Amino acid sequence: MTHPLIGKHIQDLPTPALVVDWPLLQANLSAMQAAADSYGKALRPHVKTHKCSQLARLQLEKGAIGVTCATVGEAEAMAAAGIRDILIANQLVTPDKLARVAALLEHANVKFVVDSAAGITIADQFAREKHVKFEVLVEVDCGGGRCGAQSPAEALQFTQMVLDSTSLRFGGIQAYNGSDNYHQSMDERARRCKLSDEKTLAAAEQVRTLCEIPRVSGAGTGSSALMMEYGTLTEIQSGTYVYSDTTYRSLTPQYQPALFVLAAVLSQPLPGRFIMDGGLKSMGTEFSSPEVNSYPQLEFQSYSEEHVQWNVTGDGPLPRLGQKVLLVPSHVCTTVNHHRTCYVVENETVRDVWPIDGF
Ligand SMILES: Cc1ncc(COP(=O)(O)O)c(C=O)c1O
Repeated sequence: MTHPLIGKHIQDLPTPALVVDWPLLQANLSAMQAAADSYGKALRPHVKTHKCSQLARLQLEKGAIGVTCATVGEAEAMAAAGIRDILIANQLVTPDKLARVAALLEHANVKFVVDSAAGITIADQFAREKHVKFEVLVEVDCGGGRCGAQSPAEALQFTQMVLDSTSLRFGGIQAYNGSDNYHQSMDERARRCKLSDEKTLAAAEQVRTLCEIPRVSGAGTGSSALMMEYGTLTEIQSGTYVYSDTTYRSLTPQYQPALFVLAAVLSQPLPGRFIMDGGLKSMGTEFSSPEVNSYPQLEFQSYSEEHVQWNVTGDGPLPRLGQKVLLVPSHVCTTVNHHRTCYVVENETVRDVWPIDGF
């Protein structure tokens, strides 16, 4: 059945609502796919940004080889939508999560990440008892200081353990350094990415003494162009490029903000103060400030749970009471997490309604 809001004007949508600009989304999808193609790299986009299986399917139609997930719930949604090649780029060390992945193996090739002898043993024992085989990637800490083997020798040791296991298959190397993405200076970003690439290469060279490496997977939106150029990664996991935001816009101007929170003007208690719906319960707020699309003279002031407040800082037209405006979030990934639906809009008209199904 067609959704009743398809064909409606954007001003008819309930607020606060997540709105995707279809042409801008298409441009972002094509730009990242073209970049990966030009370097001969596989694109495995991270779906934590959109958590939406319909959008993931579009990414595959454009040429992505599969998806990267953060959670088992995301992997379940992607598998339910028919996506076959799924990497959960996280460690799974508890029976509840391993059982869910084991159940998914009937429908999809789901892989996950290991970075400890104990974790490898847990996964191997679980798989053996359940008569399944898990494909696992050895994570290497390439400089982010989060998870991963802490040296090439440790990466070698973990790979050897996987090869010696009864019920695990070696799926390659996971190497992602989140902090590489955010350096405003391109020289500094290039220097950091080079270091990450060198650490990844050092681990890969060790592992290659044992076996072929099916894939070396990593990189985010801000680091992807450099990591493709440096070359050790065979797969690119960028996620935020699909939507971008006020944080990423200046770091990667080739990707334009395509996701907005539609908010209504609720109050103008003073000439210079505007209050809209769409506060802390509808937007991720931990990065830089959001903006009001088309109204640059409104400057972000503060959030509360259901309100966002703006100050008038210049001349020019202002929205009227009851008008719905597009807010550009500062972090799209944590913004999406507050919503269950996104409205895909073209020429101010709703062309599709997508459930956000990956939790
Ligand atoms: C393992 C991994 N790969 C890829 C990404 C994608 O990064 P971005 O959203 O900056 O494109 C992330 C982001 O958190 C990540 O954790």
